[in-house]
Amino acid sequence: MKIVVIQGPNLNMLGIREQQVYGAMKLEQIHAQMKDFATQNNVEIEFFQTNLEGEIVDKIQECYGDAQGIIINAAAYTHTSIAIRDAISAVSIPTIEVHISNIHRREDFRKVNMIAPVCTSSVVGFGPFGYHLAMMGMLQIMQEMQAAKAAQEARTQALQA
Ligand code: DQA
Repeated sequence: MKIVVIQGPNLNMLGIREQQVYGAMKLEQIHAQMKDFATQNNVEIEFFQTNLEGEIVDKIQECYGDAQGIIINAAAYTHTSIAIRDAISAVSIPTIEVHISNIHRREDFRKVNMIAPVCTSSVVGFGPFGYHLAMMGMLQIMQEMQAAKAAQEARTQALQA
């Protein structure tokens, strides 16, 4: 099982940018914690950060046939990008979006969310801890998918017997 974590623009500046909004943790620290949790749970994990919209679209497309889960913080593109929304919809991979801040309590332009309607779920406003919550949620989704697949295989075998 593989999870790909996609981080959008300016998230490479975590720990420097607006600490009162985004906290003091650096992206590398957040990723180190996610990696530990993935290792403990025997899940492969890959991290990708870019400031470019098209590179996020490319990465989501690369996940097709390669990853079983996507955790994405599309950052500012959340509020504008139909291209990222369409890419998530196209690959049909369980996707959890994370926002460090509570985007619903901020400026009106952050209340527009192009991504959420095509995601499995959203984690919003928990600070950097939201990434850990997303990992827990993704593992749960993956376990349910594996159980459903095993049950389907058992039914098929029973029919063939
Ligand atoms: C963000 C919220 C966005 O509105 C903002 O543009 C970001 C970060 C968050 O994690 O809270 O860059 O996605």
